[in-house]
Amino acid sequence: MIAIDGPAGSGKSTVARAVADRLALPYLDTGAMYRSVAFTVLRAAGDPDDLEFSANAARSMELNLSDDQVVVNGVDATLQIRGPEVTRAVSAVAANPLVRREMVSRQREWIERRGGGVLEGRDIGTVVFPDAELKVYLTADESVRAQRRAKEVTDLDYQTVAADITRRDTVDSTRDVAPLTEADDAIIIDTTRLTVEEVVTRIVELLPSSDAEQ
Ligand code: DC
Repeated sequence: MIAIDGPAGSGKSTVARAVADRLALPYLDTGAMYRSVAFTVLRAAGDPDDLEFSANAARSMELNLSDDQVVVNGVDATLQIRGPEVTRAVSAVAANPLVRREMVSRQREWIERRGGGVLEGRDIGTVVFPDAELKVYLTADESVRAQRRAKEVTDLDYQTVAADITRRDTVDSTRDVAPLTEADDAIIIDTTRLTVEEVVTRIVELLPSSDAEQ
Protein backbone atom coordinates (compact mmCIF):
# COMPACT_ATOMS: atom_id res chain seq x y z
CA MET A 1 0.00 0.00 0.00
CA ILE A 2 1.37 3.39 -1.00
CA ALA A 3 -0.02 6.46 0.79
CA ILE A 4 0.35 9.83 -0.90
CA ASP A 5 -0.74 12.88 1.10
CA GLY A 6 -0.29 16.60 0.67
CA PRO A 7 -2.07 19.90 0.14
CA ALA A 8 -4.09 21.00 -2.91
CA GLY A 9 -1.96 21.49 -6.00
CA SER A 10 1.04 19.56 -4.65
CA GLY A 11 0.71 17.16 -7.59
CA LYS A 12 -0.89 14.30 -5.63
CA SER A 13 -3.50 13.19 -8.14
CA THR A 14 -1.29 13.27 -11.22
CA VAL A 15 1.58 11.60 -9.40
CA ALA A 16 -0.55 8.98 -7.62
CA ARG A 17 -2.26 7.98 -10.89
CA ALA A 18 1.09 7.69 -12.65
CA VAL A 19 2.63 5.63 -9.83
CA ALA A 20 -0.39 3.29 -9.87
CA ASP A 21 -0.08 2.98 -13.66
CA ARG A 22 3.63 2.28 -13.51
CA LEU A 23 3.19 -0.44 -10.87
CA ALA A 24 -0.12 -1.78 -12.26
CA LEU A 25 -1.81 -1.12 -8.91
CA PRO A 26 -5.37 0.09 -8.27
CA TYR A 27 -5.70 3.78 -7.44
CA LEU A 28 -8.08 5.64 -5.11
CA ASP A 29 -8.58 9.40 -5.04
CA THR A 30 -10.03 9.95 -1.55
CA GLY A 31 -10.53 13.67 -2.20
CA ALA A 32 -13.09 12.66 -4.84
CA MET A 33 -14.99 10.82 -2.09
CA TYR A 34 -15.23 13.94 0.10
CA ARG A 35 -16.14 15.97 -2.98
CA SER A 36 -18.89 13.46 -3.77
CA VAL A 37 -20.34 13.89 -0.27
CA ALA A 38 -20.31 17.68 -0.72
CA PHE A 39 -22.01 17.22 -4.11
CA THR A 40 -24.72 15.04 -2.51
CA VAL A 41 -25.36 17.60 0.24
CA LEU A 42 -25.62 20.51 -2.22
CA ARG A 43 -27.86 18.53 -4.57
CA ALA A 44 -30.24 17.86 -1.69
CA ALA A 45 -30.17 21.60 -0.89
CA GLY A 46 -28.53 20.82 2.46
CA ASP A 47 -26.15 22.97 4.47
CA PRO A 48 -22.54 21.63 4.32
CA ASP A 49 -22.08 22.83 7.94
CA ASP A 50 -25.03 20.74 9.16
CA LEU A 51 -23.22 17.79 10.77
CA GLU A 52 -26.13 15.33 10.83
CA PHE A 53 -27.34 16.18 7.34
CA SER A 54 -23.86 15.68 5.85
CA ALA A 55 -23.31 12.50 7.86
CA ASN A 56 -26.56 11.00 6.55
CA ALA A 57 -25.65 12.03 3.01
CA ALA A 58 -22.28 10.28 3.43
CA ARG A 59 -23.72 7.09 4.91
CA SER A 60 -26.41 6.67 2.27
CA MET A 61 -24.25 7.76 -0.68
CA GLU A 62 -23.84 5.21 -3.47
CA LEU A 63 -20.53 6.01 -5.04
CA ASN A 64 -18.97 4.57 -8.14
CA LEU A 65 -15.43 5.77 -8.70
CA SER A 66 -13.65 4.64 -11.83
CA ASP A 67 -10.57 6.00 -13.59
CA ASP A 68 -12.43 8.55 -15.68
CA GLN A 69 -15.88 8.83 -14.13
CA VAL A 70 -17.51 9.61 -10.80
CA VAL A 71 -21.11 8.47 -10.42
CA VAL A 72 -22.88 9.62 -7.26
CA ASN A 73 -26.27 8.10 -6.48
CA GLY A 74 -26.69 7.27 -10.15
CA VAL A 75 -25.76 10.77 -11.38
CA ASP A 76 -22.60 11.45 -13.39
CA ALA A 77 -20.83 14.04 -11.20
CA THR A 78 -17.40 13.81 -12.85
CA LEU A 79 -17.26 17.50 -13.78
CA GLN A 80 -19.37 18.95 -11.00
CA ILE A 81 -17.28 17.54 -8.14
CA ARG A 82 -14.39 19.68 -9.49
CA GLY A 83 -16.58 22.77 -9.91
CA PRO A 84 -16.49 25.91 -7.72
CA GLU A 85 -19.64 25.13 -5.66
CA VAL A 86 -18.37 21.73 -4.52
CA THR A 87 -14.82 23.08 -4.03
CA ARG A 88 -16.24 25.79 -1.75
CA ALA A 89 -18.30 23.33 0.29
CA VAL A 90 -15.90 20.41 0.55
CA SER A 91 -13.66 21.58 3.43
CA ALA A 92 -16.66 21.94 5.76
CA VAL A 93 -17.88 18.48 4.84
CA ALA A 94 -14.39 16.99 5.23
CA ALA A 95 -14.04 18.55 8.71
CA ASN A 96 -17.13 16.66 9.88
CA PRO A 97 -16.00 13.71 12.08
CA LEU A 98 -19.09 11.66 11.20
CA VAL A 99 -18.42 12.04 7.49
CA ARG A 100 -14.76 11.12 8.01
CA ARG A 101 -15.65 8.01 9.97
CA GLU A 102 -17.81 6.78 7.09
CA MET A 103 -15.22 7.64 4.41
CA VAL A 104 -12.29 6.11 6.32
CA SER A 105 -14.24 2.90 6.80
CA ARG A 106 -15.01 2.77 3.06
CA GLN A 107 -11.36 3.43 2.23
CA ARG A 108 -10.15 0.62 4.50
CA GLU A 109 -12.69 -1.72 2.93
CA TRP A 110 -11.41 -0.69 -0.51
CA ILE A 111 -7.83 -1.59 0.49
CA GLU A 112 -8.87 -4.86 2.05
CA ARG A 113 -10.82 -5.97 -1.01
CA ARG A 114 -7.92 -5.22 -3.35
CA GLY A 115 -5.08 -6.21 -1.06
CA GLY A 116 -3.32 -2.88 -1.61
CA GLY A 117 -3.06 0.00 -4.03
CA VAL A 118 -2.14 3.65 -4.27
CA LEU A 119 -4.27 5.99 -2.14
CA GLU A 120 -4.02 9.74 -2.16
CA GLY A 121 -5.53 12.28 0.22
CA ARG A 122 -4.76 14.20 3.38
CA ASP A 123 -4.79 11.57 6.13
CA ILE A 124 -3.89 8.31 4.38
CA GLY A 125 -0.50 7.81 6.07
CA THR A 126 -1.63 9.22 9.42
CA VAL A 127 -5.14 7.81 9.92
CA VAL A 128 -6.50 5.59 7.15
CA PHE A 129 -3.56 3.25 6.81
CA PRO A 130 -0.69 3.99 9.23
CA ASP A 131 0.90 0.64 8.24
CA ALA A 132 1.42 1.60 4.59
CA GLU A 133 4.68 0.25 3.13
CA LEU A 134 5.49 3.65 1.76
CA LYS A 135 4.20 7.06 2.86
CA VAL A 136 4.90 10.04 0.69
CA TYR A 137 4.05 13.63 1.56
CA LEU A 138 4.12 15.97 -1.42
CA THR A 139 4.56 19.71 -1.00
CA ALA A 140 5.18 22.65 -3.31
CA ASP A 141 5.41 26.42 -2.98
CA GLU A 142 1.99 28.00 -2.60
CA SER A 143 2.25 30.06 -5.80
CA VAL A 144 3.20 26.99 -7.85
CA ARG A 145 0.31 25.03 -6.38
CA ALA A 146 -2.08 27.85 -7.27
CA GLN A 147 -0.69 28.00 -10.82
CA ARG A 148 -1.22 24.27 -11.27
CA ARG A 149 -4.81 24.43 -10.03
CA ALA A 150 -5.53 27.54 -12.13
CA LYS A 151 -4.48 25.60 -15.22
CA GLU A 152 -6.90 22.80 -14.35
CA VAL A 153 -9.93 25.00 -13.72
CA THR A 154 -10.40 27.12 -16.80
CA ASP A 155 -13.41 29.06 -15.50
CA LEU A 156 -11.62 30.74 -12.57
CA ASP A 157 -8.81 33.29 -12.58
CA TYR A 158 -5.50 32.84 -10.78
CA GLN A 159 -6.37 35.17 -7.86
CA THR A 160 -9.57 33.27 -7.07
CA VAL A 161 -7.80 29.92 -7.22
CA ALA A 162 -4.90 31.17 -5.07
CA ALA A 163 -7.30 32.53 -2.43
CA ASP A 164 -9.24 29.27 -2.45
CA ILE A 165 -6.11 27.17 -1.98
CA THR A 166 -4.98 29.31 0.94
CA ARG A 167 -8.41 29.04 2.56
CA ARG A 168 -8.62 25.27 2.06
CA ASP A 169 -5.08 24.70 3.33
CA THR A 170 -5.99 26.59 6.50
CA VAL A 171 -9.24 24.70 7.08
CA ASP A 172 -7.73 21.30 6.17
CA SER A 173 -4.68 21.69 8.39
CA THR A 174 -6.34 23.26 11.43
CA ARG A 175 -9.44 21.07 11.75
CA ASP A 176 -9.77 18.90 14.87
CA VAL A 177 -10.19 15.55 13.13
CA ALA A 178 -7.39 14.14 10.97
CA PRO A 179 -5.84 17.48 10.00
CA LEU A 180 -3.52 17.61 7.00
CA THR A 181 -0.07 16.82 8.32
CA GLU A 182 2.81 14.57 7.36
CA ALA A 183 3.20 11.22 9.13
CA ASP A 184 6.41 10.93 11.17
CA ASP A 185 7.70 8.26 8.82
CA ALA A 186 6.58 9.93 5.58
CA ILE A 187 9.11 10.79 2.89
CA ILE A 188 8.66 14.46 2.04
CA ILE A 189 9.08 15.43 -1.60
CA ASP A 190 9.00 19.07 -2.64
CA THR A 191 7.59 19.05 -6.18
CA THR A 192 8.08 22.77 -6.86
CA ARG A 193 10.92 22.25 -9.31
CA LEU A 194 10.32 18.63 -10.30
CA THR A 195 8.47 17.20 -13.29
CA VAL A 196 5.77 14.59 -12.76
CA GLU A 197 8.11 11.98 -14.23
CA GLU A 198 10.85 12.88 -11.75
CA VAL A 199 8.50 12.61 -8.77
CA VAL A 200 7.08 9.29 -9.98
CA THR A 201 10.55 7.83 -10.50
CA ARG A 202 11.62 8.96 -7.05
CA ILE A 203 8.60 7.29 -5.44
CA VAL A 204 9.05 4.03 -7.37
CA GLU A 205 12.72 3.98 -6.36
CA LEU A 206 11.73 4.32 -2.71
CA LEU A 207 9.82 1.06 -2.81
CA PRO A 208 11.44 -2.16 -1.71
CA SER A 209 12.60 -3.68 -5.04
CA SER A 210 10.13 -6.58 -4.93
CA ASP A 211 7.26 -4.06 -5.11
CA ALA A 212 8.58 -2.13 -8.08
CA GLU A 213 7.89 -3.93 -11.34
CA GLN A 214 10.69 -2.21 -13.18
O1 DC B 1 -7.60 16.47 -3.01
P1 DC B 1 -8.84 17.31 -3.22
O2 DC B 1 -8.56 18.77 -3.38
O3 DC B 1 -9.73 16.79 -4.31
O4 DC B 1 -9.64 17.13 -1.85
C1 DC B 1 -10.88 17.76 -1.63
C2 DC B 1 -11.04 18.11 -0.17
O5 DC B 1 -11.25 16.93 0.60
C3 DC B 1 -9.88 18.87 0.45
O6 DC B 1 -10.25 20.19 0.75
C4 DC B 1 -9.55 18.11 1.71
C5 DC B 1 -10.49 16.97 1.79
N1 DC B 1 -9.82 15.67 1.95
C6 DC B 1 -9.65 15.20 3.23
O7 DC B 1 -9.99 15.89 4.17
N2 DC B 1 -9.12 13.97 3.43
C7 DC B 1 -8.72 13.21 2.40
N3 DC B 1 -8.21 11.99 2.64
C8 DC B 1 -8.86 13.70 1.07
C9 DC B 1 -9.42 14.95 0.88
